[in-house]
Amino acid sequence: MSTESLRKDHKLIEKVLQALSATIKLLRDGKQIPEQILLPTLDFTQNFTDVCHHGKEEEALFPALEKSGMPTTMGPIHMMLIEHKRTKEIAEHIGLASKKYLETSDSAYLIETLELYVQHVTEHLWKENNRLFMMADTRLNSASHEIDKNLDHVEEKKLTELGKTRSHYESLVDELEKNVSEIN
Ligand SMILES: [Fe+2]
Ligand SMILES: [Fe+2]
Repeated sequence: MSTESLRKDHKLIEKVLQALSATIKLLRDGKQIPEQILLPTLDFTQNFTDVCHHGKEEEALFPALEKSGMPTTMGPIHMMLIEHKRTKEIAEHIGLASKKYLETSDSAYLIETLELYVQHVTEHLWKENNRLFMMADTRLNSASHEIDKNLDHVEEKKLTELGKTRSHYESLVDELEKNVSEIN
């Protein structure tokens, strides 16, 4: 299946969204959120999601869909590209909001940006899992081996450029879940 590796990324991203939802609740309850939660969140959202995962979609999946006749200047691919840009913008706001929060303990901006992020990315993943990836698996069935290879290649390239590994992000997510669950 040509979207398997991307669906696996989505599972990891969904775990982070759950940790962020729990973080929002803690902030609303007036709990202090340490740097050990905010910095890995930024590393994951800005590097794993924006650079690696979106890179795999934009440089391997979408071109294959385009080759199969799907337009990129309108329709679902166009929509997904706009949403990737928006995801990146909100992640940048989380960066600014985290900095402000760590300096002043004022959580309003951080809560607002985290909520926006969780909602936007949840909806984006849903559209890909249930719409675009379904279309891709049908359309690209005969080319799935080549697409898998391209996805692996882009992942490897992006992570190398970042100086990171997949296992770094898998451990980061485990740690993040653990650290969030231990705040009380
Ligand atoms: Fe996407
Ligand atoms: Fe995705």
